[in-house]
Amino acid sequence: MRLGKRVELEHIEPVTEKIVNSVFRNKDALISLTRIKHRDQYTFMHSVSVSGLLASFALDRGMARERIQQLVMGGLLHDVGKMRVPLEILNKPDKLSDEEFNIMKSHVLLGVEVLADIPGLSRDALDVATMHHERCDGSGYPCGLKEKDISEVGHMSAIIDVYDALTSIRVYKDAWEPSFTLKKLLEWSGNLFNKEMVSHYIRCLGIYPVGSLVQLKSGLVGIVIEQNESDLLRPDLRIIYNSRFMKYVQVKDVKLRKMLEDSIIEAISPETYNIDLGAFV
Ligand SMILES: [Fe+2]
Repeated sequence: MRLGKRVELEHIEPVTEKIVNSVFRNKDALISLTRIKHRDQYTFMHSVSVSGLLASFALDRGMARERIQQLVMGGLLHDVGKMRVPLEILNKPDKLSDEEFNIMKSHVLLGVEVLADIPGLSRDALDVATMHHERCDGSGYPCGLKEKDISEVGHMSAIIDVYDALTSIRVYKDAWEPSFTLKKLLEWSGNLFNKEMVSHYIRCLGIYPVGSLVQLKSGLVGIVIEQNESDLLRPDLRIIYNSRFMKYVQVKDVKLRKMLEDSIIEAISPETYNIDLGAFV
């Protein structure tokens, strides 16, 4: 897009297929990558993780595979209009001026122009792109739609777009903790996001979402790598650090449900022990 080329569906379909297959194999597999994004590739990585998050939420909502495929396609393309927003605005570390913010907001309609040229995109795929910045109280953009006018897919995209953006490191902010972000989403639900969908999304991601860093009673620190549906307090972890000795340990994947002598005390921020999460996922 940046080079002035058209988006061609046959180039996106194999990627979509891979994402859908991966989520059908393991609902959590892609999500562990969601927090790690390089600044220059932010929009690309964000689009991939929004797709993965959408697919796993859609699976949890009982949607059929063909529909999930369209959501993933919508997720991959939802911010494609950003490729027509100048990089200085896209990567600006300081607060955007009103004028710059309006240019940034134009990415939705610029994206719609691109998508209109692609034959074979369903309503669902288009809804992801057109509605991911709409908010229930009408404060969103580009149309200021009210809750009842936003489709199910539109609501899902709005929640996931914000969740992924907040849990990522951006040029202008640190990453928020997944569990803190879910708490915030719950606070904003009703006004900004559909309440029932936010609650469902929290159930879908679990108490300690994949990608969270957790402190164990034993002093060990691990990254949540997979949920354990039968006990959300005991997910699978990648142990990376020992807080008693304040040092990294040999990386080891464990099933907390089999370590009954140990348990999670709380979710912590990587800054607590200066941990570089990127090195471990
Ligand atoms: Fe966007």
